[in-house]
Amino acid sequence: MSEFKTSILCIGAGYVGGPTMAVIAKNCPDIKVTVSDINQTRIDAWNSDELPIYEPGLDEVVREARGRNLFFTTDIDGEIPKSDIIFVSVNTPTKTFGRGAGKAADLQFWEKVARNIKDHAVKDTIVVEKSTLPVRTAEAISRILHSGPSDVHFEVLSNPEFLAEGTAVHDLENPDRVLIGGGEDERGQAAIQALVEVYAAWVPREQILTTNVWSAELSKLTANAFLAQRISSINAISALCEATEADVDEVARAIGSDSRIGPKFLRSSVGFGGSCFKKDILNLVYLCEHYGLDEVAAYWEQVVHMNEYQMSRFVEKVVTGSFNTIVGKRLALFGFAFKANTGDTRESPAITVTRRLLNERASVVITDPKAIPEAKHDLADVIDQVEFCEDPYEAAVGAHAICVMTEWDLYKDLDYQRIFDSMMKPASIYDGRNILDHAALAEIGFNVYPIGKRALVNE
Ligand code: UDX
Ligand code: ADP
Repeated sequence: MSEFKTSILCIGAGYVGGPTMAVIAKNCPDIKVTVSDINQTRIDAWNSDELPIYEPGLDEVVREARGRNLFFTTDIDGEIPKSDIIFVSVNTPTKTFGRGAGKAADLQFWEKVARNIKDHAVKDTIVVEKSTLPVRTAEAISRILHSGPSDVHFEVLSNPEFLAEGTAVHDLENPDRVLIGGGEDERGQAAIQALVEVYAAWVPREQILTTNVWSAELSKLTANAFLAQRISSINAISALCEATEADVDEVARAIGSDSRIGPKFLRSSVGFGGSCFKKDILNLVYLCEHYGLDEVAAYWEQVVHMNEYQMSRFVEKVVTGSFNTIVGKRLALFGFAFKANTGDTRESPAITVTRRLLNERASVVITDPKAIPEAKHDLADVIDQVEFCEDPYEAAVGAHAICVMTEWDLYKDLDYQRIFDSMMKPASIYDGRNILDHAALAEIGFNVYPIGKRALVNE
């Protein structure tokens, strides 16, 4: 007899699975939480002092629960029969081939996992979709799980994760809401309640929303589409600000003070990145097209187009500000992660910007406090054309321009006089995140090109 009242297994030990399970384990010492993955290196890292992902506060949570009721293993098949609840958080990238290529979600990893669960489960099991999936995937998963002869019953729930990287532990500990979608019959409702009980250990019950399974699946895609749309909207306005000498931060503050609009997600930038926004919007677009809703599809696709336009505008600005040629010029990219406080570079605008600058034959040097290994991986095919450098001061030496790609706090407090003195002249800063003190930089002598604000040009 196990000392634990419930056994949870999570398949997929990535950015979602790892932190989510660690927080469940921390808050539910009476539940055994096992996190599994096919990737041995990843699991070894979860079992070591060097976790495979960087998240503020995650080390402490893992240290508290690991070995007590939190375990990491590659023995997926051995764990499935022992588990009451199985979360699946494997990756669902955008398809790169065949039908729906470039838009639809690639569900091959999910299907493999579902077949694996079916083959090894020996008792009724709740299967929870944690990865973002297209609407109505639960139905397909359920059919796979129940295919062939077996007495085992599976209830499929959708419990999308809304954590943002860099604040994952905080978001998991204090979620705005937890969303659980499930079947409307008695078994479905019982499964929902079982999962509600897990979260109720630390989340107030009124913040645990229960819906039907399709609403939960669609809510995840919609939440990300709305968030990305806000960024594309303010970025669209940033272009207009640059043309009219309005200031995008002032506009954002003015509109964000309207309680109906609210102040969050109105920071104009070089563009949004991350593994979710683009993928989920394209997924939504594909879904709309599938149902013949072409206008709805075009509406959401525009959010992605605007993001690409914003990145193009940024590169254009660098080239124009450099007397229309950057051939052979050293350009220092400050930051490569898609946002601050993470080493993740998936869909980072810095990748697109670097490649475009290289196309213009610039000499690019990249600095980032956490993401250099990922940057090297992303740029593997052009690695001989790029320099990597831990120290931002060193990166700036001899550079014609600095491009701020990620809003790391450390870039706000650098000694810019020292940096200016070490650079080629005229020295420029393209602040793709609007985090620096532009007036002070101009005072030092920099030409400053923010987003959605008047450029401050000295020479
Ligand atoms: C997002 C959602 O916020 C989260 O709920 C979901 O679970 C996963 O996708 P994440 O991608 O980790 O989370 O980061 P987020 O903070 O949303 O930022 C996404 C991108 O938008 C980043 O590149 C960020 O720099 C950019 N951004 C964000 C802006 O450019 N301006 C803003 O005002 C906010
Ligand atoms: P996310 O950001 O959604 O968490 P990640 O790519 O960080 O995505 O993590 C997904 C994880 O799922 C990876 O560690 C990958 O090795 C794992 N994975 C993919 N397919 C399987 C599978 N069939 N069984 C177990 N783990 C898998």
